[in-house]
Amino acid sequence: MLVIILSLVSTSWAQSFLQSPKLNRSALDLNEWWGPPGMIQDESIRPARIFFDDEMIKDLQYRLRNHITFQPPLEGAGFTYGFNSDALPDWLSYWAEEYPFKQREEFLNQFPQYKTNIQGLDIHFIWVRQPPTHKEVVPLLLLHGWPGSIREFYEMIPMVTADDDSRDFVVELIVPCLPGFGFSDAATRPGLGGGQMAVLFRNLMHRLGYTKYYLQGGDWGAIITGFMAVLFPREVLGYHTNWGVVPSLEALGLTLVGAVFPHLVIPPELASRLYPLTDTLASLIEKTGYFHEHATKPDTVGIAMTDSPAGLLAYILEKFSGAVDAANKVLPDGGLHNTFTREQLVDNLMMYWGTRSFTTAIRIYAETANRKHYAVGLEGASTKVPTWVVQAKTEFTYQPPEILSLKYRNLLNTTVLDFGGHFLALEHPQVLTCSVFEALEAFRRWHRNNVE
Ligand SMILES: *[C@@H]1O[C@H](CO)[C@@H](O)[C@H](O)[C@H]1NC(C)=O
Ligand SMILES: *[C@@H]1O[C@H](CO)[C@@H](O)[C@H](O)[C@H]1NC(C)=O
Repeated sequence: MLVIILSLVSTSWAQSFLQSPKLNRSALDLNEWWGPPGMIQDESIRPARIFFDDEMIKDLQYRLRNHITFQPPLEGAGFTYGFNSDALPDWLSYWAEEYPFKQREEFLNQFPQYKTNIQGLDIHFIWVRQPPTHKEVVPLLLLHGWPGSIREFYEMIPMVTADDDSRDFVVELIVPCLPGFGFSDAATRPGLGGGQMAVLFRNLMHRLGYTKYYLQGGDWGAIITGFMAVLFPREVLGYHTNWGVVPSLEALGLTLVGAVFPHLVIPPELASRLYPLTDTLASLIEKTGYFHEHATKPDTVGIAMTDSPAGLLAYILEKFSGAVDAANKVLPDGGLHNTFTREQLVDNLMMYWGTRSFTTAIRIYAETANRKHYAVGLEGASTKVPTWVVQAKTEFTYQPPEILSLKYRNLLNTTVLDFGGHFLALEHPQVLTCSVFEALEAFRRWHRNNVE
């Protein structure tokens, strides 16, 4: 029964649960080439900027102003059938008439940004370095997911890079656009999945001179940084995530045990985040319809989203509404204004629209949720990298420490929040920053006490 339901969510993920292959490092080529053949690689690190082209803005405004009349929603539907078309015109006219493109471009360029070519792809990244200091400088890679972007981290970046008297270290941040997302190049051939991106970002860190570093990620960023912790345990000094996921056969087994004997698996006060399993699965199925489409035919939906800003806005903002809190779906406006500003959400849309990157971004699902990728064995493999998971109340999935530590053998702690959802960096930047610092302090203590 369970497997049948899971296979509705994603056939290939269900298959991987049943196989749980051993980690095969040689299946990942550390120098695999993703760019055009025969390209001469420029290994320099060049300053880069986010740029909203005037032609692009004019065309976008034209499309927003000339949208067709949408079908009215069902009575009282809120967001239960998807983005409510009554809520759409306000957003479209805001984007076309009020969103201050040039001012937001300046805002988005407030942190130093660079490009460098890794394995054939120009990777765009924010890089906040520290002035000369007597304190230890600690590098931290922050990775976003879909349908997010580097924009998710803008409120956090100044807090994380601030020099605080109470700490004996300062943080340098590296915040890249995933390949195919935003201002980073997309692969020109199949196969650049989460595991391959883990290799690519390790190579980015090496290019910047970091051979030991810390990781933080949410959504795909959580998955990719998790893969980095599995693949490069001697380089990764600590792994912090706001989405701890262990998608292995063992984890499934323990989850089933907990369905019968919850006290063996989960703290009683958190049991309702995972059980009853039928509720969890029903909610996952409701929230992940897009997953199967992206994992199988990304380019088809990509055509619509690249042609229609109204479609793109509805598709992406509906995800923001639901991922913050499923209860938002009963609200006429999806509750978006309760959590985010219009600027924040449209900045993020610009990362997809302005770069025509929707299609190339969602290919990550197809490139990761397939048999060849699962055969690498990253999902089932464990790691000894010290790990810390912050768990928002309405995050997609909840797994208790007993299950998380099947994969993350040195799970130092979890921070359990009774608020917050999937986009924690944008929803509660201060809370996420605090958790990152708690974790960094704990990782550093752990290394002092566990000298090899
Ligand atoms: C590991 O991957 C390599 C390259 O894809 C493949 O040739 C090899 O057979 C795999 N090893 C195992 C044990 O599956
Ligand atoms: C884990 O985190 C909680 C909440 O932040 C804290 O109260 C507890 O002392 C921590 N435990 C350890 C072992 O660090």
